[in-house]
Amino acid sequence: MRAEDDFTRRAGALLRAAANDLKRDDENAERELGLEKGTFAEYCAGTRPVTWELMRRAAEVWPLDERDLLPGHDDCPAGVRVMRHEESRAGGRVLSRGGEPYYEYRDTAMSRIASYRPEWIRMLRVVEDDDPDNPLVQWNRGHLLYQFTYFIGPVNYYYRWNGVSACVPMDTGDSVWGLPFAPHSFTSRSATEPACILALTYGGSLLGDAQRELAVLGNATTRALAIPLDEHARRPGAMIRSFMDAGAVTVAELADRTGLSPERAGELAEGATHPDTKELDLLAHALGVSVRDLLPPRTETAGGISLQHARDARSWVWPGEDAPAYRITRLAGDPLHPHTSALQVDVLASAAGRSAPLTTYQHQYLYVLGDQPVTMCWEFAGRQAEETLTPGDSAYVRPQVPITFAATGEGGRPRVLLLRISGSVTPEVRYAVGTMAPGGVDRYVAEDRLWYS
Ligand SMILES: [Fe+2]
Repeated sequence: MRAEDDFTRRAGALLRAAANDLKRDDENAERELGLEKGTFAEYCAGTRPVTWELMRRAAEVWPLDERDLLPGHDDCPAGVRVMRHEESRAGGRVLSRGGEPYYEYRDTAMSRIASYRPEWIRMLRVVEDDDPDNPLVQWNRGHLLYQFTYFIGPVNYYYRWNGVSACVPMDTGDSVWGLPFAPHSFTSRSATEPACILALTYGGSLLGDAQRELAVLGNATTRALAIPLDEHARRPGAMIRSFMDAGAVTVAELADRTGLSPERAGELAEGATHPDTKELDLLAHALGVSVRDLLPPRTETAGGISLQHARDARSWVWPGEDAPAYRITRLAGDPLHPHTSALQVDVLASAAGRSAPLTTYQHQYLYVLGDQPVTMCWEFAGRQAEETLTPGDSAYVRPQVPITFAATGEGGRPRVLLLRISGSVTPEVRYAVGTMAPGGVDRYVAEDRLWYS
């Protein structure tokens, strides 16, 4: 199917799903949207393209947004979308800070399917110390996107959290993961050696629907909904209170449901102490939720970042010692983002031994590091494909697409950086899809019929 037809079909399915949600049959929809009799089914089937005018009209008369009717574009129909080094280089641009050239930016592989904004960046400012207050260092104001950074060469990394600035001298293979809106900067420690980073920014579930919803709800509501993770708050109190609010549950009622004393129930709801395992179970049952819904996540960030030096990074061979295809090194990340994984893959297998597919539920970004080309094979929609990637090439890989790497040349040891992220398909969504009635998944992905017949 042509990408355009597929887009039209998905737009039709969204229109049908919206009409179903609002309990409109074709006749009602046609009347309310001012459509000719018999055309609504054609729009929904994708045989007649949904127009901007129709979306505008729907957003006017129905309680939905135009965006709810807009499908996504699929710019990766082959499963993998490659961006060549030459294309990255040609799109390079120098950005100045304080009136002087500071960074050279080059785009690398992006896709409309995932929230990656991965840039290759060369540091143009050279410093001779690691002083965070060096006036040559130009700080940004921080940005919304999470940032995973992989370092290549003698790069100084600067970060600021709560007004405290720091500088860490980094080298090839070091990496860092940082929280949104924390100011940071990078410089080079050498006028001759290349000093670059791969600044892999991504929004994950912060972008898209959540941001739009909160933008409408406003500042005060967003602040009220925010759950801080400071030292004192690493207890389930905030979520217990949320579920108590949701169900209009009093402390007395919570005590009654759990069998705990009112004092103890109050303490736990306040987050004054940590419940033990038995109490967690009682609370979950009492509130009609799962234990996981009560538990706050963990973070290992300090100063807004999690830092991983290459010298003490964990590495292991995959899939096993007896036939190792890759040496995997775990790069920076944080438990706050359990569905983000950054890996350095050193390819040990030559073309003959390529039989170790790497598959994940996440969106994948890859960048060919080092100086060796690598052959990548993948399988998508029943088709096998193969590409030789050279250093500086990058690619986006759809979730669940198995990929294998092999050294292209004799005796080479290619090195590939993988950054894997989840998008809007959170575990909540995965469980929800997994518990649909039989036949539900196909209709969720593309509703093609009235909800009754
Ligand atoms: Fe950044």
